[in-house]
Amino acid sequence: MKILPHIPKNILITGASSGLGAALALEYAKAGNNLYLQGRDVEKLENIAEKCRASGAKIYTKITDVTDSKTMQQWIEEADKLSPLDLIIANAGISAGSGGGGETTQQVRKIFATNIDGVINTIQPAIPLMLKRGCGQIAIMSSLAGIRALPSSPAYSASKACVRYYGEALRGNLLNHGVEVSVICPGYIKTPMTDVNNFPMPFIMSAEKAAKIIRKNLEKGKGRIAFPLALYLPLWWLSCLSPRITDPLFSRLPAKPSIN
Ligand SMILES: NC(=O)c1ccc[n+]([C@@H]2O[C@H](COP(=O)([O-])OP(=O)(O)OC[C@H]3O[C@@H](n4cnc5c(N)ncnc54)[C@H](OP(=O)(O)O)[C@@H]3O)[C@@H](O)[C@H]2O)c1
Repeated sequence: MKILPHIPKNILITGASSGLGAALALEYAKAGNNLYLQGRDVEKLENIAEKCRASGAKIYTKITDVTDSKTMQQWIEEADKLSPLDLIIANAGISAGSGGGGETTQQVRKIFATNIDGVINTIQPAIPLMLKRGCGQIAIMSSLAGIRALPSSPAYSASKACVRYYGEALRGNLLNHGVEVSVICPGYIKTPMTDVNNFPMPFIMSAEKAAKIIRKNLEKGKGRIAFPLALYLPLWWLSCLSPRITDPLFSRLPAKPSIN
């Protein structure tokens, strides 16, 4: 097995125009690094790109929707031709909950399309390229909601559990071929995604701190990067119990607002 590039130079990040993705872009922005940053909002993405350029990194931006598989495939192949990708972070995602009377079918489909298809569209084009080289690292943004399903956000929890399982299975599948997969499961992070929540969010941390934790653990090649421990451990333990025991607790959780 080849030694993996744990200190990546060519990094592709989806959802880099805001929140965690933007903080990760800034975390990796330094002279000598090529960053391929994606988002849908031109102004927000350009603003982050400018800040990254100021840190000395070479920045290539892409405005596209992660659900557009054709454009994603083209973009990733083009980026890889410019400089072989060391690290891909499939971060773009949306969240919404059962606030306002339950999830609509439209909301469920939108969350699945972005959080599941979006991840597939990001990592599938990269896998054959990395396998051919025998090296590369793929990081998938899941969530602690992917460890124990939250009745307050069913589709979001399901989408994050899906990509966690996908990533953890892929890890075992690709490891012997030199391609490493890590799944990231953060708790509450202060970003526009959580700014809409009007309930207490235990152990909430800044996106900058989360990005540092993620980078350090990706460098170590950790399979599951779940944090903060104070939230991860109880959730993991609760996930081992029968829903019959935990229902009274989880069904009382406040719901995240829904989307149209
Ligand atoms: N914040 C938390 O507490 C938390 C906790 C655990 C996991 N996460 C996960 O972390 C990731 C980032 O979330 P965040 O908190 O940073 O949220 P955010 O600030 O709302 O950022 C979401 C990013 O995803 C992009 N995006 C959303 N839908 C897209 C689509 N269809 N096509 C392309 N880009 C799309 C957005 O781009 P535009 O704005 O340009 O459209 C934006 O850059 C998500 O996967 C989320 O589930 C967040």
